[in-house]
Amino acid sequence: MKVSVLGAGAIGSMFGGLLQQHSSDLEVLLVTRGEHGETISQRGAIDLTGPWGKQSVAIQNTQDISAIGDSDYVFLTVKSQGTEAAIRAAQPYLGDATIVSIQNGINDHLLLEYVNPDHLVMGMTATNVALLTPGEVSLQLDGLTVLGPAASCPMGQHVTGATNLLKRIRTAGLKFLAHPNALGMRYNKLTINALGYASCLSASNFITECLCHTTWRQVVGRPIVEECLRVYEAAQIKLEPVPGRSNLVKLQRLMRMLERPVLRGAISFWARQIYNRRPIVFSLYQDLLHGKMTEVEHINGEVVRLARTAGTAAPINQEIGRMVHELESRPDNTFFDRQEVINRLQAQQKVV
Ligand SMILES: NC(=O)c1ccc[n+]([C@@H]2O[C@H](COP(=O)([O-])OP(=O)(O)OC[C@H]3O[C@@H](n4cnc5c(N)ncnc54)[C@H](OP(=O)(O)O)[C@@H]3O)[C@@H](O)[C@H]2O)c1
Repeated sequence: MKVSVLGAGAIGSMFGGLLQQHSSDLEVLLVTRGEHGETISQRGAIDLTGPWGKQSVAIQNTQDISAIGDSDYVFLTVKSQGTEAAIRAAQPYLGDATIVSIQNGINDHLLLEYVNPDHLVMGMTATNVALLTPGEVSLQLDGLTVLGPAASCPMGQHVTGATNLLKRIRTAGLKFLAHPNALGMRYNKLTINALGYASCLSASNFITECLCHTTWRQVVGRPIVEECLRVYEAAQIKLEPVPGRSNLVKLQRLMRMLERPVLRGAISFWARQIYNRRPIVFSLYQDLLHGKMTEVEHINGEVVRLARTAGTAAPINQEIGRMVHELESRPDNTFFDRQEVINRLQAQQKVV
């Protein structure tokens, strides 16, 4: 069986590399670009680090998209802003392959323009993988990866087939689940990202400097979640709890507990012990820091898009998008002051 990974950066290289390592009957091909790909090609191998230590896995790598021809599965793991260019370039070579998107944004409608619904599997992962140096990726946090059909499409053999393939790498805490309402789980995680992205505007620690900060939580955090939930209801999106860590319900519970003065001090103290040492780092923050384009239009922008289709508005998420674009265009890669974020997002609530 041939498996290609289109856009093998952090996530794609880890999943593709592990698949190759654990399955001698698979031919895995990474489609990369830049220094990461050049290093893999020179070595003929990729380094995977994680709880297992560091292992070098022999693997094929190319920059030539036509090499994906005859694949049984094509994993799509580009950042969402690269989806259209990647799938358009890949389309002539897709043949009968099943496409498996593992991305944070909601790219279903875009991908359905190029791929038949019964060949499209949409997924999200709650793992965390970092590209440490070119040619080396590291599993920072294990977790669940959920696969399901594209929006408005039925569950089918294509979803279970892709999930069973990934279950070959149930190792080191990685878990895989097929679910008919994976879309509801993806919006669940998207809401956490939409909230987290607001903390990136001021380069603040999401837990200790934002959720534990009373004004930020009341004026920024809770209104973002409320806006997302209002939009999902209008668009008839049924949220699905995500088993494990990335769960909106847990985050809402934490925010409610932080409103209670008797608990606030203890929770904030506990949070500082954990999250000041190991902050949650959103890819948006890293992209801004490195002067790269971000996924914001596919996260907060997705809420705005969904609101429009449902005949409503999402002004807070829209303002977050505008503010991210302002940061993207700053030549010095600086961020807003936290109070400025609070003021600007509060102003949007007065507009409503
Ligand atoms: N990393 C994580 O821990 C994590 C966790 C959960 C979800 N996610 C989601 O998973 C998706 C992938 O994230 P990631 O962190 O793996 O991103 P990434 O490291 O940036 O990997 C994407 C790779 O695709 C390459 N690429 C883009 N367009 C291409 C094309 N047309 N042909 C070939 N290569 C192409 C990029 O090259 P350039 O760098 O040159 O653009 C990059 O190397 C995103 O939606 C992200 O939000 C990531």
